[in-house]
Amino acid sequence: MLPPLAHWQKHFESNESNSPINWEVEDILTQKEFDNIKNSIAAFQLGESSEGKHLIQAAKNYAQKYNDPYLITITRLFIKEEQGHALLLKRFMDKNKIPTIRKNWSDDIFRKLRKNVGFELSITVLITAEMLSLIYYSALFNATGSKLLKSICEKLVKDEVTHIKYESELLNSIRKEKLLKHLVCFAHQFFYFGTMLVVYLSHHKVLNAGGYNFGGFWKHCWEEFSNSFGQGNLLKKLSRQMPNPFVN
Ligand SMILES: [Fe+2]
Ligand SMILES: [Fe+2]
Repeated sequence: MLPPLAHWQKHFESNESNSPINWEVEDILTQKEFDNIKNSIAAFQLGESSEGKHLIQAAKNYAQKYNDPYLITITRLFIKEEQGHALLLKRFMDKNKIPTIRKNWSDDIFRKLRKNVGFELSITVLITAEMLSLIYYSALFNATGSKLLKSICEKLVKDEVTHIKYESELLNSIRKEKLLKHLVCFAHQFFYFGTMLVVYLSHHKVLNAGGYNFGGFWKHCWEEFSNSFGQGNLLKKLSRQMPNPFVN
């Protein structure tokens, strides 16, 4: 079952032209920053650049099944917003002579996992990536002195927060009537846990420079999961108390 979606269509329509980036603002990357971010930002730029064909098809099938008039338009606008993120990152990378990449093993896995698996699983895989992207962009904000990169991260964080809210509303509503909803949520936590490890191993340079050691990353990941899917997840209880890099 889908939640009411009319307000989400309005949101995505009005968000299109919000928060323009000032490309004239100071953009100085130190050599250390450049070395820390270059591979990692390229991987996230690739991750943001999906065409979304399978997601659109899954949304079409789901919208038809539940006779929903908003889902297809929202999904198209959502994909456009993600492609806008990819373009922002690419423009920044071009400006700083950071090469883009066309392939990356973790991106390949995520794309395969989202292929032809239906709407619910596609959104599950997507929100998993979005929750970790949110933490990554917050770390990238902290890790750089470039005002331009900071303003790009601010926009990305703002958009990803809304994407996570939208997708968690969808999933919580879809899962509500499932008999095995606790099992589904546990399986999602397990998948999230594995993805967290991959993200930390692949992007620890930026995460560490942005104030997240493994303990801080772990804690914030589970806080994010808990915010989206309610309290009581098992793995969150294992998290350690670390300083919160979101708070100055
Ligand atoms: Fe994004
Ligand atoms: Fe997103």
